[in-house]
Amino acid sequence: MLPGRPLLASSELMRGSAVVPILKPGTLEFISHNAEQTIRLGQRLGEMLRPGDILCLYGALGAGKTAFARGVGRGWGAIPGVTSPTFVLVHEHTRQADDLRLIHVDAYRLAGPEDALTFGLDELLADRHPVLIEWPERVAELLPAERLNITFNFLDSERRQIFFEALGKSYEDLLEAFRRRTFGA
Ligand SMILES: Nc1ncnc2c1ncn2[C@@H]1O[C@H](COP(=O)(O)OP(=O)(O)O)[C@@H](O)[C@H]1O
Ligand SMILES: [Mg+2]
Repeated sequence: MLPGRPLLASSELMRGSAVVPILKPGTLEFISHNAEQTIRLGQRLGEMLRPGDILCLYGALGAGKTAFARGVGRGWGAIPGVTSPTFVLVHEHTRQADDLRLIHVDAYRLAGPEDALTFGLDELLADRHPVLIEWPERVAELLPAERLNITFNFLDSERRQIFFEALGKSYEDLLEAFRRRTFGA
């Protein structure tokens, strides 16, 4: 089972409202009805990213990880925006506000953590630049214990369940601020 994978009754998954009440502290579930909504959700989170934040995006091919990542880049202020790095392992995005870089890693093609060491993923994760990883399960051994896990699940052709799980106090604070800002108190 993937870390952060929610265990939900189908009735809860299919509920009409976009947000399902908090399941347990440090988690948040959202039902996205289309790709644009997923991008906007990512954008909201991207606006709130702090130096060194680590986002792990779990989910099958086509579930919406890259769409969300595009929104994160947009909200964070990336120039010119996050694009899918499936054929290039690491994309770095600068912004005008400061000298931080948003690091976008797609680990899909990695055989394992050793592969990731060849481009210094361990150093990237320890640095002050925010890092976003698709297919983080490929590099599980390198991931810090504290991070924000985001899992994308297919509900149907257009709808996705997006499940956030904060690991560690700092990410619980981030997720709570994100929840308030996105959905109100
Ligand atoms: N609610 C949704 N959220 C995200 N993508 C969606 C949604 N509904 C349909 N899609 C489509 O699903 C695909 C998601 O692709 P992508 O973000 O590259 O997935 P991944 O990176 O997880 O493999 C896109 O073609 C997008 O238009
Ligand atoms: Mg992708």
